[in-house]
Amino acid sequence: MGKKKPDRKAKELHLGSLRAHVLVCSGGNCATKPEQKNAVKGFRKRLKERGLTKRKGGVMCTTVNCLQVCGGGPIAVVWPDGIWYRDATPENLDRILEQHIVGGKVVGELRIAGPKKARGVRTKSGSR
Ligand code: FES
Repeated sequence: MGKKKPDRKAKELHLGSLRAHVLVCSGGNCATKPEQKNAVKGFRKRLKERGLTKRKGGVMCTTVNCLQVCGGGPIAVVWPDGIWYRDATPENLDRILEQHIVGGKVVGELRIAGPKKARGVRTKSGSR
């Protein structure tokens, strides 16, 4: 067991007030390992640049082994919206961030499942 108490770490990560939690597969065969790794690395970097990590209303990205779609990957799902995306390359994840998570408009051509509408989030600068 880690030294930090889970409730303290949860508070530090603002888990109770995240705008979105994005899960990206990184263990199966829907894309190459470098493609999966680069997607997550690029997305996390972008989240930091946009000031969307570790804050109220922020965005968290977590890798999972496989999201069971196993084709056209990397696959990503944005919670709590429940919208699933194919081809989650760094460029497309950036689009998903700006258009969907920040702007509130689902990226239709990448969406493979889930509602057609999303919520938006206000950034620190107040822009959408
Ligand atoms: S490995 Fe990506 S969904 Fe299965």
